[in-house]
Amino acid sequence: MGIQADTLEASYRAMQEKLSGIVPDIELRYKAELAFEINQIKKERGAIILGHNYMEPALFHSVPDVVGDSLELSRKAAETDADPIVFCGVRFMAETAKILNPDKTVLLPAKRAGCSLAESITADDVRELKARFPGVPVVTYINTYADVKAETDVCCTSGNAARVVNSFEDEAIIFLPDEYLAANVAQETGKKIIFPTRDVVTDPKPGIDYQIVGWHGRCEVHEKFTVEDIANVRAQFPDVLVLAHPECSPEVVAASDFSSSTSKMVDFVKESDKHHYLLLTECSMGDNIAAMAPEKEMVRLCSIRCPHMNEITLEDTLNALKNDEQIIDVPEEIRVKALRSVQRMLEI
Ligand code: 13P
Ligand code: SF4
Repeated sequence: MGIQADTLEASYRAMQEKLSGIVPDIELRYKAELAFEINQIKKERGAIILGHNYMEPALFHSVPDVVGDSLELSRKAAETDADPIVFCGVRFMAETAKILNPDKTVLLPAKRAGCSLAESITADDVRELKARFPGVPVVTYINTYADVKAETDVCCTSGNAARVVNSFEDEAIIFLPDEYLAANVAQETGKKIIFPTRDVVTDPKPGIDYQIVGWHGRCEVHEKFTVEDIANVRAQFPDVLVLAHPECSPEVVAASDFSSSTSKMVDFVKESDKHHYLLLTECSMGDNIAAMAPEKEMVRLCSIRCPHMNEITLEDTLNALKNDEQIIDVPEEIRVKALRSVQRMLEI
């Protein structure tokens, strides 16, 4: 991945080939200049750029060496020798790369780029839950900050959540912090879930009639998609295949045709022979797939966007590489504890 071109003109032509149906030419010329400069500096510095599937199409298709979902990018971060690592994604992703690479410089090309799920829970919340459910192992979605991961037994992503949960067999677990992902995983693995911050739990001891203890965090993007949205799109495009990220509500997932991580959604569309697809996830991903598979029609609900992922621009990526902007740091005491939970996930 990433455009390998020796001249600006060649770089522009390569981007035009992929993106002419998606990005207007006047913008493409401007973005090609930024991408060319980024790729030059990246080579000079021996850097690697990791890009999440939600990056805007001109960035996604020009500068990352690797693109993918959270799991794929964590795996790549664990094995790369390159330094610095520029993470075109959100803060918790860059933090995970730092947890895995304490001696390397990890850069996040945006000042904010948070995540409503990561904001929904603190390390104190996890400690309180552990005191309330003593001995119950904690599985934490990777969309959390390092201090929360440090209180965790094992992390998971949307791409491996069911596998991680099943690795505990019949043992009860605490699953944090996404209410909807937890409910969807409970459905998929046939386990009963309770929400102690909402439900009345009379006997909070393991081994009773629940197997998963959930939390009330939500993704501010995916919680907005509704069953009515799906019905409306199906009425307009009767052949449409609906793909919902598992951060959507269980009702939305049930009304969809497929649900999995962002990369598995991309693969599903590439491998299917249908014409119309509705992606219930960040809108840029529809653009990115349309550029890869121009014969497919992506129906996009672009009034629903992730404001955090959209913070990452080519301008800021260039600035990060030039000036080491937004260096990510994780205190060593927290990093060492968080590393255990990330490594355990990578082993599963
Ligand atoms: P994926 O791991 O499926 O790429 O999801 C990350 C994310 O933040 C979805 O909103
Ligand atoms: Fe976080 Fe949701 Fe944005 Fe993903 S889409 S980064 S879960 S706020």
